[in-house]
Amino acid sequence: MSVWAILVAAGRGERLGLDQPKAFAKLGEDPLLAEPLRRLEESAWVDAIVMVAPPGWEEPAILLAEELGCGKVVAAVAGGQTRADSVRAGLAELGADALVVLVHDAARPLVTDEVVGRVLAPLSEGWDGAVPGLPVADTLKRVDGKGAIVETVARDGLWAVQTPQAFPADVLRRAYADGGSATDCAALVEARGGRVTVVEGDPHLLKVTTRADLERVASWL
Ligand code: C5P
Repeated sequence: MSVWAILVAAGRGERLGLDQPKAFAKLGEDPLLAEPLRRLEESAWVDAIVMVAPPGWEEPAILLAEELGCGKVVAAVAGGQTRADSVRAGLAELGADALVVLVHDAARPLVTDEVVGRVLAPLSEGWDGAVPGLPVADTLKRVDGKGAIVETVARDGLWAVQTPQAFPADVLRRAYADGGSATDCAALVEARGGRVTVVEGDPHLLKVTTRADLERVASWL
């Protein structure tokens, strides 16, 4: 089974308020992208890596991969307007030998081999996909534009879902073939009737959105 990872790193990261895209914000000593890249390179599960970089940043992404000695990186391509467009650009680079695809947000730098193993396992049991998640612990409210609470949403059965997300390559290709968009890959597989399961995620897979997130992830390095 050949496992290809698509590392999506083409987000602009406007909420960080920096001059460069989020993937190149400093996390410790290195650009943020270096952390997930190094971890996927070192993962025993991953055979090949496609990087999806912000348009115009493909070259710095490749140089970074070379600097880190990431021999599994086969391509760095430009991302699109939305995350779904970026995943689509990554899918176009998959080799014919790709049986399984892991899609991972570069903005979640602290990916571990344990979580990769957990999302891959259900695929051999016939699932169309597996995603890491954590049960929602806070009480959830729907709030209107003026800050007034409209309703309290029952949190039973609600999970906050992370990446890496794993799928058989043909399932993911079909899910992205008809131009749909969603904030994660599983949603497009689910929309076609695919059966996707949730496995235990990791609180350290926090997605970096703000400077405070960046500092928090840096403190966990
Ligand atoms: O902003 P969002 O939560 O969708 O970002 C999740 C991941 O998707 C990030 O790693 C980001 O770099 C990536 N992304 C992308 N192309 C976009 C938007 C987001 O690769 N157009």
